[in-house]
Amino acid sequence: MTGAAAGIGFATARLLGRHGATVAVIDIREKEMREAVGLLQAEGLAVHGWAGDVSDEATVEMLVEQISAQLGLIDVLVNNAGVGCHILPETLEIADWRRVLDVNLTSTFLMSRAVAQRLMKARRGGRIVNVSSIAASAALGRGNMCYSVAKAGVNQMTRELAVEWAGAGIRVNAVQPCQVKTPSFVDWVETPEGRELLARMLRGIPLGRLAEADEIAAAIHFLVSGASSMITGVMLPVDGGNLSLNAGGTPR
Ligand SMILES: NC(=O)c1ccc[n+]([C@@H]2O[C@H](COP(=O)([O-])OP(=O)(O)OC[C@H]3O[C@@H](n4cnc5c(N)ncnc54)[C@H](O)[C@@H]3O)[C@@H](O)[C@H]2O)c1
Repeated sequence: MTGAAAGIGFATARLLGRHGATVAVIDIREKEMREAVGLLQAEGLAVHGWAGDVSDEATVEMLVEQISAQLGLIDVLVNNAGVGCHILPETLEIADWRRVLDVNLTSTFLMSRAVAQRLMKARRGGRIVNVSSIAASAALGRGNMCYSVAKAGVNQMTRELAVEWAGAGIRVNAVQPCQVKTPSFVDWVETPEGRELLARMLRGIPLGRLAEADEIAAAIHFLVSGASSMITGVMLPVDGGNLSLNAGGTPR
């Protein structure tokens, strides 16, 4: 489980742990990761923590090696680590473009490859869930281009890997959340830009509210559970109807 020190990743690690999974939590922020793991262990959950940058190839190889050595073969991978970016395309620096693609997209490839290689060698199936976004399917504007492109890449990688690895019994799916009430999103909503945009975002969500991190975790749990055994290559919106709503449509 990558990027699990906070938000959707933390909620998912907790839910999978409550369902009996032994969970390896990876996050680049070591202090926050240790605090998160401490909270989950205090609940009696089998959660273990690793610090590292999942956009770095050597780090990913080392982390997956260490986790497999300590906990055994990894059956489930949730690629959740991500960063947003609010820079207009005409002023976007190449360093920001690379950082956003690396953290959202390249990390998903590196982690998936490292885990799948081991699963294939052991002739054992598995489940991968990628955390995408509504931004992968519809443009948000206001400086989100780089993030949207990265998440669109995550969607296409989900389809390709689902096809490539179906024969090895590895199911690969994605979730596409709308705006979720995570600590990082709530911080942004407190800014002048966030306050102004919140009402517009809510108008785009027919259910009329932001998602909770636990609701995204529940969808991820479904996609890694036996209940979804015939589902692979799917992008599941968890968005209160956002992607179904045409810009000219009117929710009642
Ligand atoms: N919050 C939302 O509204 C929302 C909506 C749609 C999609 N998403 C996606 O959901 C995922 C989780 O978002 P969140 O809101 O919970 O974010 P968050 O910022 O609360 O959590 C992301 C975690 O990833 C970690 N991380 C960042 N870069 C990393 C790296 N290189 N290596 C390892 N860990 C790294 C961060 O330290 C953080 O703990 C992201 O992929 C995000 O794009 C979020």
